[in-house]
Amino acid sequence: MERRGVLGLVLLIVVSFQLTAEAGRAATVATKLRSDSHKLTADEDFYSWVVREGQKFQAKKTLAAKNPEHQVTGTVQPTADGDTQTYIVVDKNGGGQFFTIQDAINSIKRDQKRTTRITIQVNAGRYEEKVVIPKNTPYLTLQGAGRESTIITHAETKEQAGSDIADATIAISAPNFIARNISFQNSAPPPPSGAVGQQATALYISGDMGAFYGCGFLGAQDTLYDHNGRHYYEECYIEGSIDFIYGDGQSLYKSCQLNVIPASTGSLTAQKRMSSSENTGFSFVDCSVTGSGRVYLGRAWGSSSRVVFISTWLADIIIPQGWQDWNDPARQQSVYYGEYNCFGPGSNTDGRVPWSKKLSLSEAEPFMTKSFIDGDSWIF
Ligand SMILES: *[C@@H]1O[C@H](CO)[C@@H](O)[C@H](O)[C@H]1NC(C)=O
Repeated sequence: MERRGVLGLVLLIVVSFQLTAEAGRAATVATKLRSDSHKLTADEDFYSWVVREGQKFQAKKTLAAKNPEHQVTGTVQPTADGDTQTYIVVDKNGGGQFFTIQDAINSIKRDQKRTTRITIQVNAGRYEEKVVIPKNTPYLTLQGAGRESTIITHAETKEQAGSDIADATIAISAPNFIARNISFQNSAPPPPSGAVGQQATALYISGDMGAFYGCGFLGAQDTLYDHNGRHYYEECYIEGSIDFIYGDGQSLYKSCQLNVIPASTGSLTAQKRMSSSENTGFSFVDCSVTGSGRVYLGRAWGSSSRVVFISTWLADIIIPQGWQDWNDPARQQSVYYGEYNCFGPGSNTDGRVPWSKKLSLSEAEPFMTKSFIDGDSWIF
């Protein structure tokens, strides 16, 4: 807006002078400017006014680069390190360049090799749409106005969509994706006990190096399909009933809340590592597990399923055995399930299956920091 104003002004000045070349005409423009919000002071000439406005704009750009709250909308602008960064604004009420998130994504040139970040700022509102972020749209950020204010929502089950990727409200195949302060919901009703095909994924991710800050994941069975790749979740809220964090991702969940909505018997996780040579697994650090119902910490969807809970508060909803072998006793030999330093009423490990681990500090350490997901090279 500001820049357009300045450019418009410069244009106006040039045109004015070219057309008339009269001082009197300039005085008319000056009078008009004085009535604008960016006022020309009494003894300031045009040139210094333009310089002053230009400096203000530069300052705002610098601020925007450092602080997403002060973004200048819809422009390409340099970041602190001289890269360019693009901002696009989506507003369902018309206050941005696009009404829907998918339209904003579709406006981006497909380019697998791009390494500059594009931020889509999604203003507050419920966006009833399905979103697909294809592989060739790397380095995309979705910035919401708060996880309770900006929600992408859709209702579709696996049975309706044909697969548990197709039913996802948002499916991310692109690498280096970031989401901040936004929620993803699949609002299909929680399935009745024993129902088949009623899984309903809110978010699916197979893109590598994805990070989520202050996000919400809302659903029942199969909420978050952490399919493939290295991912980081910080201060997120994840809700579900059965297997609601599932897939073969290599993921660190830091300071997240896992909230269980009742099901006959649920499970927080269904991790799908297929061999002990894979680096994948889910690590929960400094999290809390809340809600109602009865849940396992994990079920062995993959034969070498790997999940650890570290320094996490567990409500009194954890089934004492803790872990389930997916009704395949052979998996008891190959899974890696452990707890370290957990607390709260559900943390008593006395009743745990003997094939799970009470980790020592040195065993827990590799899972405790971003190095578990090689984060030092891609999380900033
Ligand atoms: C955004 O998320 C962060 C957590 O990553 C949180 O501290 C902050 O309060 C959130 N801001 C809004 C506006 O919701």
